[in-house]
Amino acid sequence: MSVLVTGGAGFIGSHTVVQLLEKGEDIVILDNFSNSSPDVLDKIRQISGKDFGFYRADMRDAGKLDTIFTENKIEAVIHFAGLKAVGESVEKPLEYYDNNINGTLTVLEAMKKHGCEIMIFSSSATVYGNDNPVPFVEGMKTSATNPYGWTKVFIEHILEGVCASDKDFSAVLLRYFNPIGAHKSGLIGEKPNGIPNNLMPYIVKVANGEYDHLNVFGDDYDTVDGTGVRDYIHVVDLADGHLAALSYARKNRGVQTVNLGTGKGTSVLELVRAFEKASGKKVPYVIAPRRPGDIAECYADVSKAKEVLGWQAKYDIDDMCRDNARWALKL
Ligand code: NAD
Ligand code: UFG
Repeated sequence: MSVLVTGGAGFIGSHTVVQLLEKGEDIVILDNFSNSSPDVLDKIRQISGKDFGFYRADMRDAGKLDTIFTENKIEAVIHFAGLKAVGESVEKPLEYYDNNINGTLTVLEAMKKHGCEIMIFSSSATVYGNDNPVPFVEGMKTSATNPYGWTKVFIEHILEGVCASDKDFSAVLLRYFNPIGAHKSGLIGEKPNGIPNNLMPYIVKVANGEYDHLNVFGDDYDTVDGTGVRDYIHVVDLADGHLAALSYARKNRGVQTVNLGTGKGTSVLELVRAFEKASGKKVPYVIAPRRPGDIAECYADVSKAKEVLGWQAKYDIDDMCRDNARWALKL
């Protein structure tokens, strides 16, 4: 029996595949490389010393999905594949709805046809919208402010519907907070295309001299130092959360929604200082206006992850910065 990992060549998917292979799981990856590259597969083999099945395909290709499920005995799907840039989703809503929602429906149809009844889904803290109080708790109402966020809200509802209609189905909806860091080998990590939207990849490009400064979006929030606060989580901790979710789903039926974060908030300036300490590089910054749509604080209540999955994050901000710097600056 194998675990199908959609989007397994991506940032979070590749780290999860490494952890799964280490645990002795049999893996098949599906990826179309729309936001990743084939060399990641060799890096995964290099780190783990193990091989896995791979299909270069679009998850919306029902015929290809049928082939994958026919050629392999797929017991569970860990579903990372999706487009994830908030700004781009506002410009290209149809592309986002088609890729993320139709893609998920195509995967679910193939699962149904072939009797596969476990899905671990990559949801996001973005489903908490912008008017819930922190810390975010799984039972809070969900909403979104952009098409990307709506795809996560809708897919959560789709999986609730699937579980309601099929009592043997098991879905774990993992709401990720802000993944950063990289594998300790320095061989895999995040590689965003173009100008990064997210804080850590931008910090890296300032540290390596590509940009001369970081724009800090607002210093007048009601936070520890006025800058935005987020719950950064090491990508390897996040990957381990998927192993815990898979083991839960093998023993339980129905839908379960779980936050994956550390429960601790870190401000923009705290992250800048931690990165400078870990890398020995300067990260000059200027205070810029607030970024539209941003909230002051976003961090998780992590008690459910501990209770239900028996999982909690092990790494702190200094570990995240050290591993991120090793990967991105080749230190
Ligand atoms: P990523 O872009 O690095 O990985 C996604 C992978 O999916 C890529 O390798 C891409 O090529 C592949 N893919 C996309 N569309 C596909 C399709 N139609 N068919 C086949 N492959 C396809 O992103 P990531 O950071 O690893 O995120 C993984 C998942 O986690 C995404 O669903 C994302 O929305 C979600 N998520 C990410 C974050 C984050 O900050 N990184 C936060 C919350 C949720
Ligand atoms: N920030 C800056 N300068 C930058 C980039 C970011 O000051 O150049 C600040 C932001 O204002 C925010 C913090 O750094 O206060 C983190 O910003 P990110 O863009 O890294 O992360 P967000 O929390 O805003 O967004 C991320 C993902 C979204 C997801 C959301 C909730 O990018 O896809 O988390 O999970 F929806």
